[in-house]
Amino acid sequence: MPKINVVDRSGTSKEVEAETGMTLMEIIRDDGFDELLALCGGCCSCATCHVHVDPAFASKLPELGEDESDLLDSSDHRNETSRLSCQIEMTDELDGVTVTIAQED
Ligand code: FES
Repeated sequence: MPKINVVDRSGTSKEVEAETGMTLMEIIRDDGFDELLALCGGCCSCATCHVHVDPAFASKLPELGEDESDLLDSSDHRNETSRLSCQIEMTDELDGVTVTIAQED
């Protein structure tokens, strides 16, 4: 099974098994990272699943959606690596990607 590296807000990294077809949000949440609130359950309306994705994998991510971008604008911690983890489906191509949970707004 592919894996991802999840970095929490304290900077601690953990390797997590990542089932393809699940979203990064589901994978991170289901592994017990309670920092990732994902309050809306993945319907792209809360921005509490904000993560920073390793730029080396940028070309392997789905395109940034308009709603996703608008929500990310509400974060003080948005940068060019920002994504909403509920909008990214795990694929074999993302095996090994590092995903850092964004600081809380
Ligand atoms: S879980 Fe709410 S926007 Fe991703």
